[in-house]
Amino acid sequence: MATIFSGMQPTGSGLHLGNYLGALRQWVQLVESGQHRAIFAVVDAHALTADYDPKTFPQKVYDTALTYLAAGLDPSKCTLFVQSDVKEHTELAWYLSCVAPMGELSRMTQFKEKSEQYKQSVNAGLFTYPILMAADILLYKGTLVPVGADQIQHLEFARDTARHFNKRYGKELFPEPAPHPLRLRIKGIDGAEKMSKSRGNTIELLDPPNAVWKKLRGAFTDPQRATREIGGRPEVCNLFTMHQAVTPEAKVAEIDRDCRSAAIGCGDCKKMLHESLEVELVPLRAKAEALRAQPARVDEILRDGGATCRRIAGDTMREVRSAMGLAAR
Ligand code: TYM
Repeated sequence: MATIFSGMQPTGSGLHLGNYLGALRQWVQLVESGQHRAIFAVVDAHALTADYDPKTFPQKVYDTALTYLAAGLDPSKCTLFVQSDVKEHTELAWYLSCVAPMGELSRMTQFKEKSEQYKQSVNAGLFTYPILMAADILLYKGTLVPVGADQIQHLEFARDTARHFNKRYGKELFPEPAPHPLRLRIKGIDGAEKMSKSRGNTIELLDPPNAVWKKLRGAFTDPQRATREIGGRPEVCNLFTMHQAVTPEAKVAEIDRDCRSAAIGCGDCKKMLHESLEVELVPLRAKAEALRAQPARVDEILRDGGATCRRIAGDTMREVRSAMGLAAR
């Protein structure tokens, strides 16, 4: 039985379509397949590496968990928790930092991008961030990690770190976690390569339908399609990456054909996309609203999840300390 582990940061103004289509939707499918043990975290400690407001932070953590549940994660079939409720994450991160090679850490493209973006406030946590992510996964001996394409390099790093640890301490203590075969990259509405909270080019999952439409209507498309008469190139269009994720396959093929031949315009394509998205978003919003009416429920789920994770994490750390020659006293 595979152990699934994944997480999301509670940053920005809520989870967005990239998070949902790239990861959360796969989480729900995996849990519903009933074939795995599954653990999902709100990775609040990771979010401390970016600028954030401690006053509004608890609400963001809560909203992230609520969105997990609204998207269909069933707490009776998987474990949901908040990363900082389990102190072993930061403890294991230190131990792993003593086997993780600097060279590999220095190659992380996300660090290079983010340190460019936040020039004035680059902290050491932003650099060592992949070590904490490796600790998250390895603490639960995670074997399958469903993430979007942007996290694959970090996951490779976690695999390498597991290998380095096992080799250094002569034990097969950590399995090497594998990525989920689906590695999506949803583009932003500004046409940028990645929909991302820090770029402000997102469509939020809990946005009302008119807000979703407003963003879609203004979204960039293929820049070569300057007029309605010029055919488009779906492969470079951000809307098409979303169609591929939410629109039935036969319709996607039609859209591909009709965009190239200019039989449809970008406005038509956007309307069809809005319809496909609403099929997913209507039940999600309804569930979120129902959960908001019982706030204690989300807290209770997270508390239970935290207790479960502390038990598992405690067991792993006993093995880790013993392997590393850190005696129990
Ligand atoms: P985060 O919070 O940036 O994103 C959460 C998940 O959403 C996916 N994602 C996307 N997928 C496709 N297209 C996009 N535009 C897009 N934007 C985001 C991400 O790939 C991710 O799966 N480091 C991680 C969080 C993390 C984690 C972990 C993940 C911490 N520890 C352990 C897995 C296992 C992150 O910052 O994701």
